[in-house]
Amino acid sequence: MDTEELNDRFGIEGEIGFAELEGELPFAVISNKYAEADICLYGAHITGFQPRGQVDVLWMSPLSSFEEGKAIRGGIPVCFPWFGPHASDSSLPQHGFARISMWEVSETKSLSNGESYLSLKLSSSSKTKNYWPYDFMAEMIFIIGSRLTVSLRITNTSNENISYTAALHTYINLSGIENIAIEGLENTHYENQLDGARYVQKEKLLKITQAETRHYFDTESDCIIHDPFFSRNIRIKKTGSKCSTVWNPWAETCAGMNDMPDNAFETFICLETVNKINNIIHLAPGEMHETTAILNVESSVFS
Ligand code: BG6
Repeated sequence: MDTEELNDRFGIEGEIGFAELEGELPFAVISNKYAEADICLYGAHITGFQPRGQVDVLWMSPLSSFEEGKAIRGGIPVCFPWFGPHASDSSLPQHGFARISMWEVSETKSLSNGESYLSLKLSSSSKTKNYWPYDFMAEMIFIIGSRLTVSLRITNTSNENISYTAALHTYINLSGIENIAIEGLENTHYENQLDGARYVQKEKLLKITQAETRHYFDTESDCIIHDPFFSRNIRIKKTGSKCSTVWNPWAETCAGMNDMPDNAFETFICLETVNKINNIIHLAPGEMHETTAILNVESSVFS
């Protein structure tokens, strides 16, 4: 469906429109009394969420590709049906195929409180079966208000059991990595992907001073990113997820990545809502699981 047809079928005058933006990919462009948001149908990928009067909550790389076959860098990549490298076949795409697939619009609506609702869907097809042999229905639901709600809903439409891992790989826009501290992970176990060992975080507030790839597990807690120079705390509340990943590549790895500037690591942190480790999702035929992240901007009093 081209953007003209999308506007005819799903557009809401003055609130939700469709346009070809970056790289001519189709986007839903949402504007209401609370916020503005851009959501690319390629990857079901939100690339901007700007509550009124705030700088964008999400970080986007100015060097991102917007090209089919490549992942968008920044915003919230959707990692499904595996998070990280594929367990047994390294030729398959890192973080699954959801973020490099074109999704379809299934519904738009204006909610009674003035928030905007958009759902996108991706069903199994001969294309997805090149990567993963199962029948499924994936939906991404976005609710744009003063807070952002993002849900990945997976239904097993096959007649066998399926298992998957997933992440809402959220890039948060920062005033500066040295200014921020993350609350919510004290006394939480994590797997450090960089040395393969497991630890427990002792500190109340996590400061990022080096490359970090930490997969916290057995945690359903809110995480709060304190960013006093942007005068805000960003709270990430979640449901349907017992893992949280913290990722920052730091200088050397960042310089080796061609879709972000060399100093990009100073301006974002990924705080990801994850199903992995001992939170792999198993679905019997007909079962459904929903993984949700809610991002809320709170005014900051640094503690
Ligand atoms: C993180 C992983 O979630 O995503 C890292 O833990 C990875 O290992 C990072 O480097 C970015 O992945 P990608 O595929 O988007 O470059």
